[in-house]
Amino acid sequence: METSKFFSRIENLELVEGYKKTYKNFDEVLPTLLPRKGWWLDQLFQYQGFWLSTFALRGSMLINDHFNTQPTDIIVATSPKCGTTWLRALVFSIFNRSSFDFSDHPLSKSNPQELVRFLEGCIHVEGSTSFIDGFPSPRLLSTHLPYSLFPQRMTDDTSGCRFVYICRDPKDVFISKWHFANKLRPKDLPPITLDEAFDSFCKGVSHYGPFWDHVLGYWKASLESPKKVLFLKYEDVKKQPWDRVRKVAEFLGVPFSLEEENNKIVEEIVKLCSFENMSKQEVNKNETRNSERPISNADFFRKGEVGDWVNHLPPQMVETLDQITEKKLQGTGFNFH
Ligand code: A3P
Repeated sequence: METSKFFSRIENLELVEGYKKTYKNFDEVLPTLLPRKGWWLDQLFQYQGFWLSTFALRGSMLINDHFNTQPTDIIVATSPKCGTTWLRALVFSIFNRSSFDFSDHPLSKSNPQELVRFLEGCIHVEGSTSFIDGFPSPRLLSTHLPYSLFPQRMTDDTSGCRFVYICRDPKDVFISKWHFANKLRPKDLPPITLDEAFDSFCKGVSHYGPFWDHVLGYWKASLESPKKVLFLKYEDVKKQPWDRVRKVAEFLGVPFSLEEENNKIVEEIVKLCSFENMSKQEVNKNETRNSERPISNADFFRKGEVGDWVNHLPPQMVETLDQITEKKLQGTGFNFH
């Protein structure tokens, strides 16, 4: 939405002035930031250590200045291509398990991004954070923003809002991102080559990158505030989905009862959210793309496997990525295995 139209819709003058201030701040900050070419059309800007598109940057500023966090907020946080779609589906179905029948579930009719809304994406479309105030509580939202970019009132132990984060082996993330970028690139541009994308990824220049810093931000927060941030690995969820579903439910304060266990609700959720089930739903086969919606639902389902990098990365690239990862993770107590 155009900013002027958005301002004219808000009746509270004080609020309008507040938003104008944030937009002015954005206009002033943007030209001072280091720009780099993005993986499709947009540029990325280095802001507080991370490479953000303009919409993510403006979203972050609007969240900082205006987002009214609620103690019941649940935020699905990811670096892109780490399993956002999957985690959205899991969190939605865990939270709403008594509201819907598994044989006629919203996830069979809607892509998870319609059920767990993308925070900075919605803010970009609406121009404000105010409309989120009206979402029913508990609000299930998702974000790609790094933890350090959230305001203290959200990351404070006392704020109540919770983050569920999922990360993934950087080699699989890179391959997934590379495929995704080439789907997003306008048809009149040549595809981004593996070499070009690899060079950018290793330098940290990718949406919301550097990837490793993104992961470590949430990892450290999960150690410092385990009740606020739950940290998951894609590979673990693949290997032990039942166990991880129980863990998420406990973290969200809605553990499974004995009756639910006996009724195999955990198994139902795992099956419902599996790649095999979700990718075959009509809604997720939709390949419609246009200038307003350059990404189709189908683009979020490619292979959904662990270790697909083997089919794409030459040994030299594997070695380079592994070395970067080792160096970045040194002394953090974290690894991707
Ligand atoms: P691949 O490209 O490796 O197949 P995001 O949702 O963060 O954009 O991540 C997309 C990646 O998650 C893609 O990985 C996609 O196939 C995979 N994915 C989507 N839904 C999934 C599911 N239900 N289970 C496991 N992986 C899934």
